[in-house]
Amino acid sequence: MFGLFRKKQRRPQDGTVTLRPRDCHTHVIPEVDDGSRSMDESLAMLRMLGAQGAKRVIATPHMYPGKFDNEPDGLRRAFDGLVRAAERSGDITVELELGAEHWLDASLLQRVKDDAVLAFGPERYVLFETTTGSQTPEELMDVCFALTDRGYTPLVAHVERYRYLRGEEGSDLLEDLRAAGARFQVNRTPPKPRANPRTAFVAKLQARGWVDEVGSDMHRPTASGRPEPSKRAA
Ligand SMILES: [Fe+2]
Repeated sequence: MFGLFRKKQRRPQDGTVTLRPRDCHTHVIPEVDDGSRSMDESLAMLRMLGAQGAKRVIATPHMYPGKFDNEPDGLRRAFDGLVRAAERSGDITVELELGAEHWLDASLLQRVKDDAVLAFGPERYVLFETTTGSQTPEELMDVCFALTDRGYTPLVAHVERYRYLRGEEGSDLLEDLRAAGARFQVNRTPPKPRANPRTAFVAKLQARGWVDEVGSDMHRPTASGRPEPSKRAA
């Protein structure tokens, strides 16, 4: 019996990742980025996440200069609208909290210094994403140090996406990031998982106990959380 219990509690180390009670990465606020397109769509997403086991959903809209020019005040207003609509609906069970998915560039360093980031959780996580190629972003470590200096915890969004971390040189950089206090968010495995470099990388992180947080990165109320393929071309 105890063996069974232990088996149930153990997290897989095969690179597959399931949602945890706190979903740390979503695009559920309507009309602020490439996520939800309407309040109805947002509520449908929150219902889906609740049914999938989420108790707390962190809304992390893009703050991406030149692409999604969101600022904390505007996002707070949009988030309050979502909270009110969720309360009115009467059937949304998840709790909501506001964060953001910050784009890493030189302007993020200034944003951190100005305390103009959106942090969430008792950890004061600041979620950020970077370019995905094999080149390490110049500002990566400086942003991490600036965040921890100010009492934030850097949280790398979908850490499995970055080629510069998956490659050979990535191992040292992963160590450096951990030492600088950064934590790693991994996207949950899609409905039809397949073996690929990302899965292998996540398995490596799991073996080291480095999958700190999980996110759905949900953009639409679909099984994949993404626009349906037929509608993507529009
Ligand atoms: Fe995202």
